[in-house]
Amino acid sequence: MIFSIFILHRNRGMVKFRMIADPCRLSSSPSPTWHTRTRHPYPHARSDAHACHVLRTSPRPENSRSLLHLHSPDPNLHQTQQERSSSIRSLPQPSSSRSPPRPSAMGSLTKAEEETAAAEEWSDEAIVYVNGVRRVLPDGLAHLTLLQYLRDIGLRGTKLGCGEGGCGACTVMASCYDQTTKKTQHFAMNACLAPLYSVEGMHIITVEGIGNRQQGLHPIQECLAMAHGSQCGFCTPGFVMSMYALLRSSKQPPTEEQIEDSLAGNLCRCTGYRPIIDAFRVFSKRDDLLYINSSPENADGRPICPSTGKPCSCGNEKDIDASESSLLAHTKNYSPCSYNEIDGSVYSEKELIFPPELQLRKVRSLKLNGFNGIKWYRPVKLKQVLHLKACHPNAKLINGNSEVGIETKFKNAQYSVLISVTHVPELHNLIMKEDGIHIGSSVSLAQLQNFLRKVILERDSHEISSCEAVLRQLKWFAGTQIRNVASVGGNICTASPISDLNPLWMATGATFEILDVNNNIRTTPAKDFFLGYRKVDLKPDEILLSVILPWTRPFEFVKEFKQAHRREDDIALVNAGMRVYIRKVEGDWIISDVSIVYGGVAAVPLSASKTETFLTGKKWDYGLLDKTFDLLKEDILLAENAPGGMVEFRSSLTLSFFFKFFLHVNHEMNIKGFWKDGLPAANLSAIESYSRPVGVGTQCYELVRQGTAVGQPVVHTSSMLQVTGEAEYTDDTPTPPNTLHAALVLSTKAHARILCIDASLAKSSPGFVGLFLSKDVPGSNHTGPVVHDEEVFASDVVTCVGQIVGIVVADTHDNAKAAANKVNIEYAELPAILSIEEAVKAGSFHPNTKKCLVKGNVEECFVSGACDRIIEGEVRVGGQEHFYMEPQCTLVWPVDSGNEIHMISSTQAPQKHQKYVANVLGLPQSRVVCKTKRIGGGFGGKETRSAIFAAAASVASYCLRRPVKIVLDRDVDMMTTGQRHSFLGKYKVGFTNDGKILALDLDLYNNGGNSLDLSLPVMERAMFHSDNVYDIPNIKVSGQVCFTNFPSNTAFRGFGGPQAMLIAENWIQHMATELKRCPEEIKELNFQSEGYVLHYGQLLQNSTIRSVWDELKVSCNFIEARKSVIGFNNNNRWRKRGISMVPTKFGISFTSKFMNQAGALVQVYTDGTVLVTHGGVEMGQGLHTKVAQVAASSFNIPLSSVFISETSTDKVPNATPTAASASSDIYGAAVLDACQQIMARMEPIASRGNHKTFSELVQACYMERIDLSAHGFYITPDVGFDWVSGKGTPFYYFTYGAAFAEVEIDTLTGDFHTRTVDIVMDLGSSINPAIDIGQIEGGFIQGLGWVALEELKWGDDNHKWIRPGHLFTCGPGSYKIPSVNDIPLNFKVSLLKGVSNPKVIHSSKAVGEPPFFLGSAILFAIKDAIYAARAEEGHFDWFSLDNPATPERIRMACVDSITKKFATIYYRPKLSV
Ligand SMILES: Cc1cc2nc3c(=O)[nH]c(=O)nc-3n(C[C@H](O)[C@H](O)[C@H](O)COP(=O)(O)OP(=O)(O)OC[C@H]3O[C@@H](n4cnc5c(N)ncnc54)[C@H](O)[C@@H]3O)c2cc1C
Ligand code: FES
Ligand code: FES
Repeated sequence: MIFSIFILHRNRGMVKFRMIADPCRLSSSPSPTWHTRTRHPYPHARSDAHACHVLRTSPRPENSRSLLHLHSPDPNLHQTQQERSSSIRSLPQPSSSRSPPRPSAMGSLTKAEEETAAAEEWSDEAIVYVNGVRRVLPDGLAHLTLLQYLRDIGLRGTKLGCGEGGCGACTVMASCYDQTTKKTQHFAMNACLAPLYSVEGMHIITVEGIGNRQQGLHPIQECLAMAHGSQCGFCTPGFVMSMYALLRSSKQPPTEEQIEDSLAGNLCRCTGYRPIIDAFRVFSKRDDLLYINSSPENADGRPICPSTGKPCSCGNEKDIDASESSLLAHTKNYSPCSYNEIDGSVYSEKELIFPPELQLRKVRSLKLNGFNGIKWYRPVKLKQVLHLKACHPNAKLINGNSEVGIETKFKNAQYSVLISVTHVPELHNLIMKEDGIHIGSSVSLAQLQNFLRKVILERDSHEISSCEAVLRQLKWFAGTQIRNVASVGGNICTASPISDLNPLWMATGATFEILDVNNNIRTTPAKDFFLGYRKVDLKPDEILLSVILPWTRPFEFVKEFKQAHRREDDIALVNAGMRVYIRKVEGDWIISDVSIVYGGVAAVPLSASKTETFLTGKKWDYGLLDKTFDLLKEDILLAENAPGGMVEFRSSLTLSFFFKFFLHVNHEMNIKGFWKDGLPAANLSAIESYSRPVGVGTQCYELVRQGTAVGQPVVHTSSMLQVTGEAEYTDDTPTPPNTLHAALVLSTKAHARILCIDASLAKSSPGFVGLFLSKDVPGSNHTGPVVHDEEVFASDVVTCVGQIVGIVVADTHDNAKAAANKVNIEYAELPAILSIEEAVKAGSFHPNTKKCLVKGNVEECFVSGACDRIIEGEVRVGGQEHFYMEPQCTLVWPVDSGNEIHMISSTQAPQKHQKYVANVLGLPQSRVVCKTKRIGGGFGGKETRSAIFAAAASVASYCLRRPVKIVLDRDVDMMTTGQRHSFLGKYKVGFTNDGKILALDLDLYNNGGNSLDLSLPVMERAMFHSDNVYDIPNIKVSGQVCFTNFPSNTAFRGFGGPQAMLIAENWIQHMATELKRCPEEIKELNFQSEGYVLHYGQLLQNSTIRSVWDELKVSCNFIEARKSVIGFNNNNRWRKRGISMVPTKFGISFTSKFMNQAGALVQVYTDGTVLVTHGGVEMGQGLHTKVAQVAASSFNIPLSSVFISETSTDKVPNATPTAASASSDIYGAAVLDACQQIMARMEPIASRGNHKTFSELVQACYMERIDLSAHGFYITPDVGFDWVSGKGTPFYYFTYGAAFAEVEIDTLTGDFHTRTVDIVMDLGSSINPAIDIGQIEGGFIQGLGWVALEELKWGDDNHKWIRPGHLFTCGPGSYKIPSVNDIPLNFKVSLLKGVSNPKVIHSSKAVGEPPFFLGSAILFAIKDAIYAARAEEGHFDWFSLDNPATPERIRMACVDSITKKFATIYYRPKLSV
């Protein structure tokens, strides 16, 4: 194999290619020096190499010819769309210039002869360049994805986050050469869905290919690191590569909007996106004002950089400190760049070029094989496709594989013959013709977007209504990576009921050209093509050739609609395409032709035929609305348990969409001057489509420097490793030889007795090595973090879907999964409890979990007459999936044949892994070691639930004496590991007419699931936080943990606190509505004051809630904001704005006293460097960075002299899990203790000599035989709680904060966006304000997800269309965490100045969990907006709004004449709790 690296050299303006044979560099990250001309400023807009009117999209063979451009008026102009679409005609064959000759022998040769003839054309030589290195792809890998291949060859910077194209962690840049335009094209794609051979002939660049620490970071990497855009780092390479692909494919600097759009397919669970966008902002066309004039200032009076969030002077060269000047240096570095015409891209100083070999190479037909007899073809001629189809009628055509990839991975589909049609020229046509646009079926959605943009500029405005509608719809279709590869034909032929384009093809009157193996073309209207659920009018010997999208006529209007859970990169709940052609007849506008088609309401896109018939010939005016609504209701009938649920909402949407369409047409007529009755201004709000302006982030804090490092906003110490992909996570660790891979055998029943387990099929599965069940456990099968109430392997009865029954190990992960799927379990089903309500009714509680806290006398207060009013209500609080980007993963191996067990785990609690594994294997804990270097996010989900997978894997490893690796697929992870507890709160509140709270009686229930896990401490914290910040003289809070047949719910950021505070804010709102007052007034009136005794006996000290609140009120200008919202709402009937301010007080400490302890080991080496190990785990929160800052300041040495490598149970024993926000406090203190011990030992030496440097001093100490290693220890003083008396001091102190939010909702669809968020938090004197701000922003956005986006749907009584106990939302496709476009347009975070916290090291405060609850400001702002909508209909009363406030809940709460057709005004959408 020849390995070569291509370098582009600059030589006096000449570009030269040089090939370097360098096998040493071959390894995973070849790092050639890249040079290029540096003439133009970075960056640039997409190079558009295509001809104006005629486009044949690439990739394509070099000998393909250009197509005719026909541009003439439509002869069918006076024919109705319907007439045109129904006239099925025989289209002319493709002209000889564009279609290959017919396969004339077809039908006359025998099948075998045909195959032999065809075989001669095929090659099995497949090459790809990866990061400049040529690689020959061996035959036999057709089953592999590009991601698997990259990771197998050691390029582990590209991550597996979901495997379904939904998270972007696997983003790479692909480049291919278009022989027609002689340009290279660059695009981002998801490696997890790309079949390996689909990138044959391309150049793949991964994060390793653009820069590394040794040879220099790419400016993108550097900016991201410097701007604090990487926390856990797992998503980071994906973001880097999306940005990289955008820059490489743009000739001009992209706009900020383009940058935000290009990141919609990348998810980050840690940062809240703001720093990522700000980091990348520097690559955009700059608005210098943003950087110079409008920068807010910090306490020093120095401007805060909108890009980095740090004080800086970009645009103002004075006063730059070291870290900031380095960022500026980078931005300057990449400014001078060059554009390369051939490569079609812009370079920074060092870039990999497109390999000349690939440029010159003739594209060949490929025939390759894969595991299990898979045959993979890549024809380059249409006749080859037809030939193959004739030989293999059941062969699967693939383009982007974004559908087939999902079917094979998640739906167990198996296809033995795959035909990749990406290189067939005839399927890539994009032509403007008389009858419309002809779109080849393999045209990618991104290519279609580009083409439509041109068409819209070139054609008459009346012709392009359909084009505009398709283009607008494509904006909301998946993310960039998917659109770059997914094809038009793939979308059509999948025939998904929720396809975004199919309703539009139908409504626009598009026709499909279908080609059979004999080269006959037939045409069918799109509306006749979809026959049933994923069933289309295509015979096995036919393929879809192209789509013809007709031009529209004057007075013909087309509009698209889509409502999803999340606006960006989400599949539709309901979508629609609507078209109307109106003509003026005797002064009236009469409907000549109309088409209304809905997706997401039936197995196929559904035409509203009765409505269409009714409307045809009618006058287009308001008078038709009522009848149309009635008929639409008849046309679109959703059964009560229709798949997808949300029947009332989806039905309402169908009418809302039509209403919007009606107003849209009126508006169009209006602006064209044909409509005499103008559209009422307030109604315009129904038709304004959402377009997101560029967001602005502001961060305000003061720097309180302490020593060399504390107080400085330094970047995360691993950030450089993370942005280059060099940071290793558990799955990246090289596996020992002989490693086996594990997959779990999971229960498929919510509650059942296991009758028998049949493993015979599994045992004969390829690569199978072993199956382990409860009987194979050498130690104890019983486990649990608090009580041992769960089994590692279910032995007799399963109590939830997803419970582990066994573990299969095999030679590969895929083989293990396949074998595990073949284990057949017979069950006898038992009754299951599937909600809190059912549990309460059945008295199904975890034993000994009933708790109560009392202050004053609630009952007495209620009957005393002191309360002017008493209200009662119920709050249902939805759960939340952790969605850490790195799935659960453990590698476990035996040492000395099982005498010891070692493991590397992605966990927040290595010590728990050690304990669980020792317990299940019957080994002493001293022989079990668990190490964790870093984890790709945890948020509580890896505190206890990770340990059971490690325990299961260890059984296989121990029994077989072989290393075993277990990595959970995203869906398995989500369905088995438990979530944030859903809660039910029942309240009764007594208060005065002045708004003073007198009494609260609160019953709390949480959904514990099938084992106790941490549900009791979660409930206890909820009870402590049930007052939020309010003074409640009489309070009784009781709590109980429900046993349900769901996977055990567990810790999640906030640990029950947010749920209880959400309930508190609900009843406060309820009070305010009763009193007809603003909720914020009621809140202020009831704030707890200094010295207040909390309902659990703790004295409130050093409370800053009032200061935080007052500062926020000024900062957000609440009074003005309220006025402006009222003004907006008065002028807009269908869009409403709402605002809200929410306070929080979060108790810091573990509520179990014994857990408030921490250990650390500090070792000083003779070169003056320091190695710190402590019990905490780095999961992105910057713990190691802050702890290192503490150590550096203690020794008075630079931060760079301190290193933290990993967390390990053999360095620091019995560590408490990294949780409860207190890790910086306690591990910082433990490290300080160790440092102080060492300093004390060094002191006599230091005082004797004049040591110039720390290393000199250390060397001197060493010579004096001073022990330079110390174990530090810390216990949190003065905490403890007695549940018997219900009194004590569970918290050492409190972190306070408050948030303001302003949102805007679309009352007709339930869509919303956040306009402004302003947060003020008291974090004392922050150890690292940049990291703390990152925690606030990330926590807030996670909270936003909880309250407004993320809905878990379980198979329960409310969701009968889901199998009982199964989780429907088990992947990024159906479970939507916030994406980059969900963040507030104005996002301001300030730290309260001039405060300190004397109780904690360096006067700082804990930050991890407290900001999470502030996200609820979004929920209450939404509710405020809904109040305004309801007021339009005369409804002013209190109403329930459960979280998450999804479009369904928002729309159904905005009651109007449409919703009233489907539900009462009290309707409360279903929620799994
Ligand atoms: C993360 C993600 C997000 C998505 N978001 C959306 C979305 O927002 N809206 C939406 O509508 N869809 C969405 N999809 C679905 C999917 O991406 C689209 O349907 C896509 O257009 C499929 O194109 P493809 O080229 O990848 O199809 P492939 O997987 O390559 O093929 C799909 C099917 O089409 C058949 N096929 C392809 N070409 C032909 C042909 N010429 N003749 C006959 N049969 C053919 C294939 O045999 C196969 O059955 C999403 C998918 C993913 C993974
Ligand atoms: S791993 Fe590929 S998109 Fe998530
Ligand atoms: S930094 Fe983005 S997921 Fe952790």
